[in-house]
Amino acid sequence: MKIFIDTADINEIREIKDLGILDGVTTNPSLVKKTGRPWKEAVEEILKECAGLPVSVEVVATDTEGMVREARELARLGDNAVIKIPCTEAGIRAVKALSAEGIRTNVTLVFSPLQALVAAKVGATYVSPFIGRIDDIGYDGLAVLEEVISIYEVYGVETEIIAASIRHVDHVRRCAELGVDIATIPYKVIKQMFRHPLTDVGLERFLKDAQEAGIQI
Ligand code: E4P
Repeated sequence: MKIFIDTADINEIREIKDLGILDGVTTNPSLVKKTGRPWKEAVEEILKECAGLPVSVEVVATDTEGMVREARELARLGDNAVIKIPCTEAGIRAVKALSAEGIRTNVTLVFSPLQALVAAKVGATYVSPFIGRIDDIGYDGLAVLEEVISIYEVYGVETEIIAASIRHVDHVRRCAELGVDIATIPYKVIKQMFRHPLTDVGLERFLKDAQEAGIQI
């Protein structure tokens, strides 16, 4: 499973990249707002820092023509830019046009397998089911993700699935179990993936015993 970080914070991106586990980045307008930085400056810095890795950047227009225009502009910012397009009728039309131009897209705000199906039909590079937000309204986000995975498998769809809106490590574990192509994970959750209380306790005991046994390497 590829690991993307779901953030627009350059320091978080750098830290996870340095750990050697980063395969890509996803941003959205809310994440950029959280950084408090000017939008273009933040996005350009991420694209540069992550040269060679896909970085999703979202359009803000809601009509097809506007989305296509914005997508072309964003694609010019870096050859690793992937354009996030919301899963609306206008968005699907935009993805169709952008696919024909060879511009990579990530269809976002996907909450049902049928939305994922139409996104694939028009050649989306990635599709992002939002599992946490589905859980938030009392449904099962992972069940929706599983349906998307099975439908894509049945038809041999090439669009890659990004499990998005991940809230905790158990989401990540289940995503890996389901064999999703990619999980885009917030910084805090990525950090928790390294930790286990038994590792801390075990290490403490080994170090104490090493000291008592006079082990020095
Ligand atoms: C990623 O592509 C999405 O924008 C993100 O995962 C949404 O997460 P949220 O539901 O926590 O805002």
